[in-house]
Amino acid sequence: MVFHVLTLFPEMFNGFLSESILKKAQENKAIEIKIHNIRDYSTNKHKKTDDSPYGGGAGMVFTPQPLFDCIEAIKKEAPKAPVIFMTPSGKRLTQPKVELLNKKFDQLILLCGHYEGIDQRVIDSLVDIELSIGDYVLSGGELAAMVVIDAVMRLIPGSLGNQESHEEESFSKRLDRKREYPHYTKPSEFRGMKVPDVLLSGNHAEIEKWRRNKLR
Ligand code: 6GU
Repeated sequence: MVFHVLTLFPEMFNGFLSESILKKAQENKAIEIKIHNIRDYSTNKHKKTDDSPYGGGAGMVFTPQPLFDCIEAIKKEAPKAPVIFMTPSGKRLTQPKVELLNKKFDQLILLCGHYEGIDQRVIDSLVDIELSIGDYVLSGGELAAMVVIDAVMRLIPGSLGNQESHEEESFSKRLDRKREYPHYTKPSEFRGMKVPDVLLSGNHAEIEKWRRNKLR
Protein backbone atom coordinates (compact mmCIF):
# COMPACT_ATOMS: atom_id res chain seq x y z
CA MET A 1 0.00 0.00 0.00
CA VAL A 2 1.25 3.45 -0.93
CA PHE A 3 -0.03 6.39 1.12
CA HIS A 4 0.27 9.81 -0.49
CA VAL A 5 -0.19 12.59 2.04
CA LEU A 6 -0.90 16.16 0.97
CA THR A 7 -0.08 18.59 3.74
CA LEU A 8 1.16 22.08 4.53
CA PHE A 9 3.06 20.64 7.49
CA PRO A 10 5.20 17.73 6.29
CA GLU A 11 7.36 17.80 9.40
CA MET A 12 4.41 16.76 11.55
CA PHE A 13 4.90 13.27 10.08
CA ASN A 14 8.60 12.90 10.95
CA GLY A 15 8.27 11.31 14.36
CA PHE A 16 5.28 9.20 13.42
CA LEU A 17 7.00 7.68 10.38
CA SER A 18 10.45 7.16 11.80
CA GLU A 19 9.57 5.24 14.95
CA SER A 20 8.57 1.72 15.83
CA ILE A 21 6.02 -0.11 13.71
CA LEU A 22 5.61 2.48 10.97
CA LYS A 23 9.36 2.47 10.50
CA LYS A 24 9.49 -1.33 10.32
CA ALA A 25 6.52 -1.52 7.96
CA GLN A 26 8.32 0.78 5.55
CA GLU A 27 11.59 -1.12 5.89
CA ASN A 28 9.72 -4.36 5.18
CA LYS A 29 8.24 -2.69 2.08
CA ALA A 30 4.75 -3.51 3.38
CA ILE A 31 3.90 0.17 2.97
CA GLU A 32 5.33 3.26 1.36
CA ILE A 33 4.52 6.78 2.51
CA LYS A 34 5.01 9.78 0.28
CA ILE A 35 4.60 13.19 1.83
CA HIS A 36 3.77 15.99 -0.60
CA ASN A 37 4.14 19.59 0.53
CA ILE A 38 1.15 21.46 -0.93
CA ARG A 39 3.08 24.71 -0.78
CA ASP A 40 5.62 23.37 -3.31
CA TYR A 41 2.84 23.34 -5.91
CA SER A 42 1.77 26.95 -5.44
CA THR A 43 2.48 29.09 -8.50
CA ASN A 44 2.04 32.25 -6.41
CA LYS A 45 5.27 34.18 -6.02
CA HIS A 46 4.95 34.06 -2.22
CA LYS A 47 3.91 30.39 -2.34
CA LYS A 48 0.54 31.39 -0.92
CA THR A 49 -1.97 28.55 -0.49
CA ASP A 50 -4.93 30.33 1.14
CA ASP A 51 -7.15 33.35 0.70
CA SER A 52 -10.19 34.99 2.31
CA PRO A 53 -13.59 33.47 1.53
CA TYR A 54 -15.86 34.99 -1.11
CA GLY A 55 -18.99 36.27 0.61
CA GLY A 56 -17.03 37.05 3.77
CA GLY A 57 -16.72 35.12 7.00
CA ALA A 58 -14.06 34.06 9.45
CA GLY A 59 -10.83 32.29 8.58
CA MET A 60 -9.08 31.46 5.35
CA VAL A 61 -9.77 28.97 2.59
CA PHE A 62 -7.34 26.76 0.65
CA THR A 63 -7.03 28.11 -2.89
CA PRO A 64 -7.75 25.58 -5.64
CA GLN A 65 -4.59 25.94 -7.76
CA PRO A 66 -1.98 24.24 -5.53
CA LEU A 67 -4.40 21.42 -4.66
CA PHE A 68 -5.40 20.78 -8.29
CA ASP A 69 -1.77 20.73 -9.43
CA CYS A 70 -0.60 18.54 -6.56
CA ILE A 71 -3.44 16.01 -6.89
CA GLU A 72 -3.12 15.88 -10.68
CA ALA A 73 0.61 15.23 -10.38
CA ILE A 74 0.00 12.32 -7.97
CA LYS A 75 -2.86 10.96 -10.10
CA LYS A 76 -0.44 10.57 -13.00
CA GLU A 77 1.41 8.05 -10.86
CA ALA A 78 -1.64 6.58 -9.16
CA PRO A 79 -4.66 7.01 -11.46
CA LYS A 80 -6.89 4.65 -9.50
CA ALA A 81 -6.13 5.97 -6.01
CA PRO A 82 -9.09 7.65 -4.29
CA VAL A 83 -8.63 11.18 -3.00
CA ILE A 84 -9.64 11.17 0.64
CA PHE A 85 -10.26 14.57 2.20
CA MET A 86 -9.68 14.52 5.96
CA THR A 87 -12.29 16.83 7.49
CA PRO A 88 -14.37 16.91 10.68
CA SER A 89 -17.51 17.04 8.50
CA GLY A 90 -16.61 13.79 6.72
CA LYS A 91 -18.05 10.31 7.28
CA ARG A 92 -16.82 8.66 10.46
CA LEU A 93 -13.92 6.22 10.06
CA THR A 94 -14.82 2.75 11.35
CA GLN A 95 -13.03 -0.60 11.27
CA PRO A 96 -15.16 -1.85 8.33
CA LYS A 97 -14.21 1.30 6.39
CA VAL A 98 -10.54 0.73 7.21
CA GLU A 99 -10.86 -2.82 5.88
CA LEU A 100 -12.58 -1.64 2.72
CA LEU A 101 -9.82 0.88 1.99
CA ASN A 102 -7.23 -1.85 2.46
CA LYS A 103 -9.10 -4.31 0.26
CA LYS A 104 -10.14 -2.06 -2.62
CA PHE A 105 -7.05 0.06 -3.17
CA ASP A 106 -3.30 -0.21 -3.39
CA GLN A 107 -2.70 3.52 -3.14
CA LEU A 108 -4.52 6.20 -1.11
CA ILE A 109 -4.30 9.97 -1.46
CA LEU A 110 -4.90 11.65 1.89
CA LEU A 111 -5.60 15.37 1.72
CA CYS A 112 -5.13 17.13 5.05
CA GLY A 113 -7.50 20.06 5.49
CA HIS A 114 -6.56 23.29 7.21
CA TYR A 115 -7.80 26.82 7.63
CA GLU A 116 -11.62 27.11 7.53
CA GLY A 117 -11.79 24.69 4.64
CA ILE A 118 -10.88 24.11 1.04
CA ASP A 119 -12.38 25.64 -2.09
CA GLN A 120 -15.53 23.66 -2.94
CA ARG A 121 -14.35 23.17 -6.54
CA VAL A 122 -11.58 20.90 -5.25
CA ILE A 123 -14.16 18.76 -3.45
CA ASP A 124 -16.54 18.70 -6.44
CA SER A 125 -13.88 17.83 -9.02
CA LEU A 126 -11.29 15.76 -7.22
CA VAL A 127 -12.37 14.41 -3.83
CA ASP A 128 -13.83 10.89 -3.74
CA ILE A 129 -14.29 10.35 0.00
CA GLU A 130 -14.56 12.71 2.98
CA LEU A 131 -13.46 11.15 6.27
CA SER A 132 -13.54 12.22 9.91
CA ILE A 133 -12.03 10.28 12.79
CA GLY A 134 -14.55 11.35 15.44
CA ASP A 135 -16.86 13.99 16.81
CA TYR A 136 -14.36 16.64 17.81
CA VAL A 137 -12.48 19.27 15.84
CA LEU A 138 -8.73 19.10 15.27
CA SER A 139 -6.71 22.03 14.01
CA GLY A 140 -5.75 20.12 10.87
CA GLY A 141 -6.19 16.84 9.08
CA GLU A 142 -2.65 15.58 9.75
CA LEU A 143 -3.36 13.67 12.97
CA ALA A 144 -6.42 12.15 11.34
CA ALA A 145 -4.37 11.08 8.29
CA MET A 146 -1.91 9.38 10.64
CA VAL A 147 -4.82 7.50 12.22
CA VAL A 148 -5.92 6.25 8.78
CA ILE A 149 -2.36 5.21 7.90
CA ASP A 150 -1.88 3.36 11.19
CA ALA A 151 -5.22 1.56 11.04
CA VAL A 152 -4.79 0.44 7.41
CA MET A 153 -1.11 -0.41 7.81
CA ARG A 154 -1.70 -2.91 10.59
CA LEU A 155 -3.93 -5.00 8.32
CA ILE A 156 -1.14 -5.47 5.78
CA PRO A 157 0.77 -8.73 6.10
CA GLY A 158 4.38 -8.09 7.01
CA SER A 159 3.71 -4.71 8.59
CA LEU A 160 3.59 -5.95 12.16
CA GLY A 161 6.63 -8.16 11.75
CA ASN A 162 4.55 -11.29 11.21
CA GLN A 163 3.35 -12.67 7.92
CA GLU A 164 -0.05 -13.72 9.24
CA SER A 165 -2.89 -12.52 7.08
CA HIS A 166 -5.86 -10.81 8.68
CA GLU A 167 -8.02 -11.39 5.62
CA GLU A 168 -9.43 -14.79 6.50
CA GLU A 169 -10.72 -13.62 9.84
CA SER A 170 -14.30 -12.39 10.10
CA PHE A 171 -15.03 -8.92 11.42
CA SER A 172 -16.84 -10.27 14.48
CA LYS A 173 -13.90 -12.50 15.28
CA ARG A 174 -11.58 -9.53 15.10
CA LEU A 175 -13.87 -7.49 17.31
CA ASP A 176 -13.83 -10.43 19.66
CA ARG A 177 -10.06 -10.39 19.64
CA LYS A 178 -10.17 -6.77 20.74
CA ARG A 179 -11.70 -7.94 23.99
CA GLU A 180 -8.81 -8.41 26.34
CA TYR A 181 -8.08 -10.16 29.61
CA PRO A 182 -5.78 -8.40 32.12
CA HIS A 183 -2.06 -8.78 31.45
CA TYR A 184 0.70 -9.16 34.04
CA THR A 185 4.47 -9.47 33.78
CA LYS A 186 7.42 -9.55 36.19
CA PRO A 187 7.77 -8.89 39.07
CA SER A 188 5.14 -11.15 40.66
CA GLU A 189 4.73 -8.57 43.41
CA PHE A 190 5.00 -4.83 42.84
CA ARG A 191 4.41 -2.30 45.66
CA GLY A 192 2.42 -4.91 47.52
CA MET A 193 0.21 -5.74 44.51
CA LYS A 194 0.34 -9.43 43.65
CA VAL A 195 -0.14 -11.18 40.32
CA PRO A 196 -3.15 -13.55 40.59
CA ASP A 197 -1.93 -16.97 41.83
CA VAL A 198 -3.56 -18.87 38.97
CA LEU A 199 -1.25 -17.18 36.44
CA LEU A 200 1.79 -18.44 38.35
CA SER A 201 0.33 -21.96 38.74
CA GLY A 202 1.39 -23.37 35.38
CA ASN A 203 -2.09 -24.92 35.07
CA HIS A 204 -3.00 -23.95 31.52
CA ALA A 205 -6.60 -25.13 31.68
CA GLU A 206 -7.18 -23.05 34.80
CA ILE A 207 -5.40 -20.06 33.24
CA GLU A 208 -7.61 -20.32 30.12
CA LYS A 209 -10.70 -20.43 32.33
CA TRP A 210 -9.56 -17.43 34.37
CA ARG A 211 -8.82 -15.41 31.22
CA ARG A 212 -12.15 -16.24 29.60
CA ASN A 213 -13.83 -15.08 32.76
CA LYS A 214 -11.95 -11.81 32.76
CA LEU A 215 -12.61 -10.84 29.13
CA ARG A 216 -13.76 -7.27 28.99
CL1 6GU B 1 -10.30 14.37 9.61
N1 6GU B 1 -9.93 16.78 10.59
C1 6GU B 1 -10.07 17.70 11.52
N2 6GU B 1 -9.53 18.93 11.32
N3 6GU B 1 -10.70 17.50 12.67
C2 6GU B 1 -11.21 16.28 12.85
C3 6GU B 1 -11.10 15.25 11.92
C4 6GU B 1 -10.44 15.54 10.76
N4 6GU B 1 -11.72 14.16 12.39
C5 6GU B 1 -12.18 14.51 13.59
N5 6GU B 1 -11.87 15.78 13.87
